[in-house]
Amino acid sequence: MEKKIQFQDAEILYEVVGNGQPVVLLHGFAEDNNIWHEQTHFLQDYCRLILPDLPGSGKSSMLQKDNVTIEDYAACLNALLTNEGIDKCVLLGHSMGGYITLAFAEMFPDKLQAFGLVHSSAFADNEEKKGVRKKGITMMEEHGVYFFLKNTTPNSFSENYKKNNQERISELIEQGKDFSKETLIQYYTAMMNRPDRTAVLEKSEVPVLFVIGSEDAIAPLDDLLKQVHLPQTSHIHIIEDAAHMSMQEKPDELNNYLLEFISNTA
Ligand code: MLT
Repeated sequence: MEKKIQFQDAEILYEVVGNGQPVVLLHGFAEDNNIWHEQTHFLQDYCRLILPDLPGSGKSSMLQKDNVTIEDYAACLNALLTNEGIDKCVLLGHSMGGYITLAFAEMFPDKLQAFGLVHSSAFADNEEKKGVRKKGITMMEEHGVYFFLKNTTPNSFSENYKKNNQERISELIEQGKDFSKETLIQYYTAMMNRPDRTAVLEKSEVPVLFVIGSEDAIAPLDDLLKQVHLPQTSHIHIIEDAAHMSMQEKPDELNNYLLEFISNTA
């Protein structure tokens, strides 16, 4: 069922499917809730899935204020959960959705039964990454969103997947054309300014899931191995031959890991 709330000056749409334990699947940068298509299909028989379109993505309008932060998106998610009457949930975020998940865990720890980072990290951007983002913003400003996505989206996939699934990658790029430049720049700026949140992992009183792609260049295995030991309870899965997009690259493996985590934390 499609639902909506008003948050600040934006209209936020989200899907609710299935019954039982509330589980939120939060998409990443230049995606919308359709990125969880395979997971929705599989998990809806086991829990109540909440699938937001973040402000500016999919059917949700963007936040209009200046200097939007990752915490603003976490506050938006909190408003959505309040609207749904959800006191506690399992929150699973992909990449940028994971950064928002960590901010949410810092701001509203009592609302989480467990949380997970799917190809995401608690480290802040280093100077090199900030430089790459600044170049990305210049590319969007000078050449537009489509050019930017054509240049960057393939980097999210493993070499093997790229060889065999060119059409699916092109589809994702085509869908991305609907994003406004302003939204993608808002996300990039918010990501660049986000703080290190390793302390959130250290302080977490709930289980934390890490899903890591062995070939992920955006949330690299080496970086993630430096943080998986921080929570009291970690569930760690390394998916071989996957990069940043196991939702599409290795859906069956990911689905099983998510279900196991959700079931263990019920
Ligand atoms: C994402 O997939 O959400 C982004 O690649 C995250 C990032 O750029 O750090």
